[in-house]
Amino acid sequence: MDEELTKQAQSAHSQSARVAQDDRPLPSGSSSLDRRGFLRRAALGAAAVASVPIVGSLAPASVSACGGGSPMEPALAAPVCARTEANIEGPFFRPGAPHRTSLVGPATSGVPLLLSGRVLSGACRAVGRARLEFWQADHRGAYDLEGFQFRARVLAGHDGSWSLRTILPGRYLNGSQYRPSHVHVKVHVPGRPTLTTQLYFAGDPYLESDPWARRSLVLQLSDVPGGGKLGTFDFVV
Ligand SMILES: [Fe+2]
Repeated sequence: MDEELTKQAQSAHSQSARVAQDDRPLPSGSSSLDRRGFLRRAALGAAAVASVPIVGSLAPASVSACGGGSPMEPALAAPVCARTEANIEGPFFRPGAPHRTSLVGPATSGVPLLLSGRVLSGACRAVGRARLEFWQADHRGAYDLEGFQFRARVLAGHDGSWSLRTILPGRYLNGSQYRPSHVHVKVHVPGRPTLTTQLYFAGDPYLESDPWARRSLVLQLSDVPGGGKLGTFDFVV
């Protein structure tokens, strides 16, 4: 049943989900994570999302960078997907994280977040054998620099699909200024340069002042009934 619910949640991006923008500050408190309950709510939330206008220069341009052409273009025009923008690696990457698709357990604190998407080529075709490395801060904004908490390697499927169950990362100070909440990622595809980038979240009040946040990397998150967030992103390499 969990696999079925996860597939439903991952299908959100293919349904061109446009979701309600959440301008509330990110909760910093603790919440218990229940795998079945969260995935079930995530699936329900994906089915209930609605279109809303997007405000702000760092609002996300789209859930996916891919487009098949406007109605004014030839019907048979080949689809083109814009390459995902690179972003700084930062100082906290550690190689060798465990292979896993969930970073949470029953005692994990933070707002549950289910991320999913695909790895695509510039021709918008699924890229197989992609290997993704994720790392992020915990709900308080701290990185695990000795172990592998909130770090994972994820193998994408033959259809390019990937998913990661995690929490919304906490913000941390960079000098005198907070960085917006973000998830770091490296996308490795055989025969192609490694993509190193970060994912950001719409509504974060520190997006505009952050020197590294980019509009193309900002995800809209949908609220999952009962708690938690759901977001999708396609990496184009
Ligand atoms: Fe970071």
